[in-house]
Amino acid sequence: MLVVDLGGQYSQLIARRVREARVYSELVSHRASAEELRRRNPVALVLSGGPASVYADGAPQVDPRIFELGVPTLGICYGMQLMAQALGGRVDRTGAGEFGKTELRATVGSQLFGDLPPEQTVWMSHRDSVVAPPAGSRVVAGSSNTPIAAFEDDRRRLYGLQFHPEVVHTPHGQELLKNFLYEVAGAPPTWTPAAVIEEQVERIRARVGSDRVLCGLSGGVDSAVAALLVHKAVGDQLTCVFVDHGLLRKGEAQQVVEAFGGHFRVPLVHVEAEERFLSRLEGVDDPETKRKIIGEEFIRVFEDEARKLGDVRWLVQGTLYSDVIESGGDGGVAETIKSHHNVGGLPADMRMKLVEPLRLLFKDEVRRVGEELGMPERLVWRQPFPGPGLAIRIIGDVTRERLETLREADAILQEEIRGAGLYRELWQSFAVLPAIRSVGVQGDSRTYGYPIVIRAVTSDDAMTADWARLPYDLLELISARIVNEIPAVNRVVLDVTSKPPATIEWE
Ligand code: XMP
Repeated sequence: MLVVDLGGQYSQLIARRVREARVYSELVSHRASAEELRRRNPVALVLSGGPASVYADGAPQVDPRIFELGVPTLGICYGMQLMAQALGGRVDRTGAGEFGKTELRATVGSQLFGDLPPEQTVWMSHRDSVVAPPAGSRVVAGSSNTPIAAFEDDRRRLYGLQFHPEVVHTPHGQELLKNFLYEVAGAPPTWTPAAVIEEQVERIRARVGSDRVLCGLSGGVDSAVAALLVHKAVGDQLTCVFVDHGLLRKGEAQQVVEAFGGHFRVPLVHVEAEERFLSRLEGVDDPETKRKIIGEEFIRVFEDEARKLGDVRWLVQGTLYSDVIESGGDGGVAETIKSHHNVGGLPADMRMKLVEPLRLLFKDEVRRVGEELGMPERLVWRQPFPGPGLAIRIIGDVTRERLETLREADAILQEEIRGAGLYRELWQSFAVLPAIRSVGVQGDSRTYGYPIVIRAVTSDDAMTADWARLPYDLLELISARIVNEIPAVNRVVLDVTSKPPATIEWE
């Protein structure tokens, strides 16, 4: 299924919702011609929402011939208005826009609404409204401000919804999308993790042949799932290189080594490079300098190892579909090694071709594929962790002693958050060590120790975040354990700032 992106904020979300209904979907530009769309042979089209008015200067348009392709098409919000306009209906600024939750009444006998309750709450966000539906269609739902909130043309299989079925504030929205996909378009719900694996394995085999492949593991879920997919496809032609910079959390390096080298038997080079990284970080307290050093050193170590392996033609990269969309979508994206945020950029002159088995997947799909491949729960559901690791969670210069202190505090924090069943609810939860000291008293003596900051946030995408309201009892437990079990720490504080104005990390 193709989502024609008209610039709405929910275009990606539509594609994700369709995939949750187990129908494979991709975003395409609204500039694509009807002929280009036809060539891709979609089972259905969705026109996304978009900017305020179809009459505005520069308002995105679609090729009107797409309505003659005979492909079931659903217009959502702006997409609906564009469709109505193109098919001879009328769109006006009625002065009665709607924003937020709205009560909707649907007529019976509608294909889209099927067996759903005739009265339901939906999410609206529009100023203009369709005031005359296209000829040949009938109005199947309305609200008090928007009498034409949905229309259907069953003969031509063209459908319009003024509200947003893709957002959670439309409780029956997913069922509506399913009605469109299954009942109207007859699309089979076959997009499952198992199907993804099968398809990718075949593709990788076909591309790579008998060449050797290299994959850098970071300990994160994306590179891990990418590596396992490639290993399933070409077995021991794959070598993974895990550069352990010594800035990981407690037990993390070991988990990677056990899972890959042990459980999955993937050929693994574990480079213990702590010494190299720490000596270069000595005395450095500027955050961006730390990042730069770590990024450069990472490349050096990785290149050294790659060279030792000899003739390797392919490099695995865990690029996700959201990266592809953000960099302009497929077609616009050159197949070059992009500067990878997570590992600080891989060498541009490595002359390897890329294998990107996650290129079509959203993050939640990557996790489901990981589960299907038998990856341990801890790895699959790991919260995001920055490439430079604990180095940017020590505010001040990075020393072995501070790393050890932070690692222990963080381990206690993680253990208690997992124990309270909150780990998956939080976008990130971690400890920060500002390298300052404060006075305390323990036993009968005065102490002069580090504080530990608890940082826990909820977020959908890390662009904005809210500080998590952790239960007091849990905070008390974490605080007591940290100061009791770690001699260097005598104070625990909680970060109660959202993003913006703060960032998630402290550096
Ligand atoms: P901030 O701190 O900017 O973080 O709110 C947003 C998200 O990005 C992660 N982050 C990084 N990830 N290298 C990374 O790979 C970095 O240098 C880096 N800095 C921040 C952070 O953990 C959060 O998820």
